[in-house]
Amino acid sequence: MSVAGRDPADRDTNGNASPDNGTAGPTHGSFFGRRKGHKLRLHQADLIEHLLPHLSLDIGKPDPPDLADLFAAPVDDLRLEIGFGGGEHLIAEARAFPRIGFIGCEPYVNGMAKILTQIEAHNIGNIRLFAGDAAELLAWAPPRSLARIDLIHPDPQDLTVAAMARALKPDGEFRFVSDIADYCAWTLAHLSRSPEFVWTAERASDWRLPWTGYTMTRYGRKAEREGRHAAYLRFRKVG
Ligand SMILES: C[S@@+](CC[C@H](N)C(=O)[O-])C[C@H]1O[C@@H](n2cnc3c(N)ncnc32)[C@H](O)[C@@H]1O
Repeated sequence: MSVAGRDPADRDTNGNASPDNGTAGPTHGSFFGRRKGHKLRLHQADLIEHLLPHLSLDIGKPDPPDLADLFAAPVDDLRLEIGFGGGEHLIAEARAFPRIGFIGCEPYVNGMAKILTQIEAHNIGNIRLFAGDAAELLAWAPPRSLARIDLIHPDPQDLTVAAMARALKPDGEFRFVSDIADYCAWTLAHLSRSPEFVWTAERASDWRLPWTGYTMTRYGRKAEREGRHAAYLRFRKVG
């Protein structure tokens, strides 16, 4: 999947992306957005320098046969959150499910600094991090290694349906949240067309409302404040 291909600044006054060719088409570079924002506070810079290396995945090395080995304590399953931003959702999930190993992928340094602050404050042991492009991480992950992939209020990025299908276990889940109609339509069209995924919604409330236990993110709150409603799409990997 290539989740649309344009700058959120191109949104029209309703918050919809305004594609120039009528499609939410593929991007050409995978990373979208800023890598650096405001200057890090001293402690944040210290966490980036000293804590991040301990939690970082090194995709320069071959993937371990079992990604669970990345975690000090045993984990029952593995999940990936792509573009976690400030980390609100990822931190809440990791605290709620201590027996799940979470991988958080976020190239934005300030987002990384924020999540490191939370990991340290709550002494969270079940998160590993990747400060780069999700497409590279997915290509590195062993096939059928992840039980779930979450993509919440994404920027446009080059993620293919095939890359996600490859990394997900049979019966694994892909969860997608966006308030941009074009991104939702594109995702729905492409995943519904794929023989490897089924959309699990049975009634409108299944996609109009967040799932139970969902933690609203910064972008989600902003969309709600501005009157844009997100869709909450869940797909099950078949086979
Ligand atoms: C619109 S923000 C949403 C952040 C957060 N999920 C939320 O809902 O508040 C999109 C995030 O995706 C990240 N991102 C952009 N391109 C990416 C890529 N290729 N791989 C992983 N994350 C990416 C950005 O740095 C940004 O933090």
